[in-house]
Amino acid sequence: MLGTIFTMAEDLIKVVGTKEEIYQGLLPQIKALVGEETDTIANLANTCAALKEAFDFFWVGFYLVKNDELVLAPFQGPVACTRIQKGKGVCGKSWELGETISVEDVEQFEGHIACSALSKSEIVVPILQQGIVIGVLDVDSTTISAFDSVDSKYLNDLCIWLSERI
Ligand code: SME
Repeated sequence: MLGTIFTMAEDLIKVVGTKEEIYQGLLPQIKALVGEETDTIANLANTCAALKEAFDFFWVGFYLVKNDELVLAPFQGPVACTRIQKGKGVCGKSWELGETISVEDVEQFEGHIACSALSKSEIVVPILQQGIVIGVLDVDSTTISAFDSVDSKYLNDLCIWLSERI
């Protein structure tokens, strides 16, 4: 309609292809979806919904640092544990180290926090502002070794970009 201003995409365009091609098609769409929005909850909510829609991850979501704990933030998937201490589980370890941690088999990761027995592998990417971890992106899969350097690269790019919009 003449004069209508569309401020966000109504649907994601589904990209079919390799994992890398899906990320390459998805990330610009997430950036368009977030646009000029600065609200943390809104931007994290749409980001994890878009990741879930594109990859059908078992669980994808965020934890944010609040009062020296990671606290559950927007996510898609089954209910999850609410608070994680620094150094605990994969999320707490990623927070402590300020590094991405990819776990091929969660049963082999000492201290892994099992929010669901169905989760078999996991990648956690820290979100930093001025060198300080302010949260993490956590993605879980029901298959062993689901995540590789492609996930790490694109999820890190996404978290760097997101860090200025939350
Ligand atoms: N497995 C995570 C806990 C969060 S859930 O997977 C959503 C961990 O070990 O930190």
